[in-house]
Amino acid sequence: MGILLKGGKVVTAVDNYYADVRLEGEKIVSIGTNIGETDDDIIDVHDCFIIPGGIDTHTHFDLKVGATTTADDFESGTKAAIVGGTTTILDHPTQNKGESLKETLRAEHKRSDGVSYCDYGFHMGITDWSDETSNEMKDMIKEGITSFKMYMAYKGNLQVDDGVIFKALKRSKKLNALICFHCENGDLIDELIAEAEFSGNKSPYYHAMARPVEVEKEAITRLLIIAEIADAPVYIVHLSSKEGLISILDAKKRGVKVFVETCPQYLLLDDSYYGEKESKSFEGAKYVISPPLRKKYDQDALWEGISSGEITTIGSDHCSFNYKGQKEIGFYDFTKIPNGAPGVENRMGLIYTYGVVSGKISLNEMVAITSTNAAKTFGIFPKKGTIAVGSDADIVVWDPNFKSYIIAKEQTQNVDYNPFEGFEQQGRVKYEFLRGNKVISNAELIEKKPIGKYVFRKINK
Ligand code: URP
Ligand code: ZN
Ligand code: ZN
Repeated sequence: MGILLKGGKVVTAVDNYYADVRLEGEKIVSIGTNIGETDDDIIDVHDCFIIPGGIDTHTHFDLKVGATTTADDFESGTKAAIVGGTTTILDHPTQNKGESLKETLRAEHKRSDGVSYCDYGFHMGITDWSDETSNEMKDMIKEGITSFKMYMAYKGNLQVDDGVIFKALKRSKKLNALICFHCENGDLIDELIAEAEFSGNKSPYYHAMARPVEVEKEAITRLLIIAEIADAPVYIVHLSSKEGLISILDAKKRGVKVFVETCPQYLLLDDSYYGEKESKSFEGAKYVISPPLRKKYDQDALWEGISSGEITTIGSDHCSFNYKGQKEIGFYDFTKIPNGAPGVENRMGLIYTYGVVSGKISLNEMVAITSTNAAKTFGIFPKKGTIAVGSDADIVVWDPNFKSYIIAKEQTQNVDYNPFEGFEQQGRVKYEFLRGNKVISNAELIEKKPIGKYVFRKINK
């Protein structure tokens, strides 16, 4: 017995066509007309789009930051992913100083295995470079990890220097792996923070002041010069600014291979959320994320970057902390506010509403940037990221007509606010399948067990 999705429009990164889709076991087994077996479970999906399950390239679940831990762990975070139409996430285990990558990986599996509702893989965060780390990059590939993560910010904690970036890139080039980079100049940020503090400027507004566009642009420019010398491809996470994008385009003209990710928050929210300079409000803490929110001018450039194909993936950078009790740690000092915001649940809906419905991108482009390109870049295509015979039956049946508002009180993610509170949304997940298992039916989460599996990725040759 299989499942037959009947009457819908199949949309991939390159095609739109009406066809029925049949799933059996974990796979898509046929696509066409007059298909199906007599005992199939037939689901009427007319007036809906059949799209590949979303792949969120950027989450931080169950992450310890200082003395606090993200509000969402793998259980609540992956449940929220499923509710929002995302069937695979790539999370960020991060090496503690003195720890081997194997230890970091073991701990991440302990946090995620057996509790996750969607499939999951990891970008391995490297913070403590040594010959041993270099050797272990190969071991990580044997464990199904084909991408790594390095930070050019968070000095004294996660930040790595240019020499380490160069050595790591030479190594990743040899292994055909990919390193993802957080691009902000951490040294400069610390100086700007010190200046703000010296002047008694301690409100969330000054978080953004201490991380101007230039610190992103400088780090991107520097990274891409290092990548050019190392002759290695790089992946830039959460691009926030037009200036950063201009540097990327310059480097591409020189032949540097660079993949670029942005996030819904940088496309849809601007720095007015930090409030006025003299405001005593702490509301801006909800938007204390790094890089910070920018200007409308940056948003327009990022949308253009998506349309022109220069930005190829959308990650949520979901890193949630409750406003009450967690963001409030920094009530008297913005530097103590844990950085990050939730987003995994709304990524697909926001891109559909403000990208496709508003006419900025096509539905095919939405599929490409929310799923297919991630699968291709991170070594899981065509197993995931498309609707094709033989692919995992990770399928979202998208009802394009339903309208709703984002309301934190109604969300699945385990955090007490939503940065997109009150945003109108069009479209929703009507049915969803994770490797052939029906997890959403009639827009309700019906899967009660954490059936998500670790995704073992392979190097792209
Ligand atoms: O503010 C953010 N983005 N927090 C998560 C960690 C990171 O830098 O991606
Ligand atoms: Zn980051
Ligand atoms: Zn992040």
